[in-house]
Amino acid sequence: MLINSVTTIYFSPTGTTKKIINSIVKGMGIVNDKIVDLTLPKARRDDGIPLIDGEIVLIGVPVYEEKIPEIVYPFLANLKGNGSPVVLVSVYGNIGDGIVLNQLDFIAQKSGFKVVAAGSFIGEHSFSTEEIPIAQNRPNNDDLNKAEEFGKNIIKKIENINSLEDVSFKIPQGKLPLMAKIVPKNSARLFTKTPFADMSKCSHCNICVKLCPVSAIDKGTLEINEKQCLRCFCCVKMCPKKARKIIYKPKLLVSKVLTIKNRIIKEPKIYL
Ligand SMILES: Cc1cc2nc3c(=O)[nH]c(=O)nc-3n(C[C@H](O)[C@H](O)[C@H](O)COP(=O)(O)O)c2cc1C
Repeated sequence: MLINSVTTIYFSPTGTTKKIINSIVKGMGIVNDKIVDLTLPKARRDDGIPLIDGEIVLIGVPVYEEKIPEIVYPFLANLKGNGSPVVLVSVYGNIGDGIVLNQLDFIAQKSGFKVVAAGSFIGEHSFSTEEIPIAQNRPNNDDLNKAEEFGKNIIKKIENINSLEDVSFKIPQGKLPLMAKIVPKNSARLFTKTPFADMSKCSHCNICVKLCPVSAIDKGTLEINEKQCLRCFCCVKMCPKKARKIIYKPKLLVSKVLTIKNRIIKEPKIYL
C-alpha cells in the first residue's frame, strides 16, 4: 500500500506531545498536509472536526491521571475514520501511562479507523520544577530519534501490505494504579494550586492568556479561574519572564509522592 500524506491530531499544552508527533512525521517522510492542534478551545469546536479521507492519521495526547485528558475526549470520539489507518500516541511524565492507548484504541475502532501502530513516549512532567524535576527535558534526543525511527517503520509496514485487512495488531491492556481509581476526577486540582503569578516580573504580554487551553486566565487581572484551570501549567512553562510558578499542596507530600513515582527512568514503548 502507498501512503502519501498524514493528518496529525494532537493536544499539547506544554509542547512535548507535539515534539513527539513532529518527529514521527519526520521519520515517515511524507507530507503533513492537515494539522489539527486541539490545544486551544476554538480548535475543539464541533465544526473543527476534520474530514478524514484515506490518508494515514496520527493522534497524540498527553496522559492526564493515567487517562486521555477529559477535555479532548469528546472531540476524538466524534472523529469519523472512514476506514483510514491510524497511529495512536500517548506522552506521559514518567509516572505512568495507564490506559490511554487502550482508550484511544477503543475510540479509533468505534470511529471506523484501522489501528496500525501505537506508541507511548515520555515528556517532561507538567508538574516538574527545578526543585522537583520529573522527566526534565524529555523528550531528549534519544526519545526523538526513537520517534523518528517509529515513523520510518510505520511507513515500511504499510508499504509491505496489500490491504489494511492484512494488519493484525493488538495493544497490550494497560493498568490503572489504585491511586488513579480512588482519587476524584481532575485530582490535579487537589494536589496543586492555580499557578502563582509574581506581578513584579510579569510584563503583561498576555501570552498566558492566549495560550491557556481552557481560557481560564482573565485578560485584565491575569487571575486564573480555579475551577476551570486544568493544572496543565502551560502558563508557567511558556511565560517569557518566568513570572508564574507551580505550587504543590501540601508541598511535602506531593513532592515526596512525585519523587518516589519518578524513581525509575522509563523508555518509549512501541507497538507495530
Ligand atoms: C492534569 C495532569 C495530569 C497528569 N497525569 C499524569 C499521569 O497520570 N502520569 C504521568 O506520567 N504524567 C502525567 N502528567 C504529565 C503529562 O502527561 C506530561 O507532562 C506530558 O508530557 C504533557 O504533554 P504536553 O507537553 O504535550 O502538554 C499529567 C499532567 C497533567 C497536566
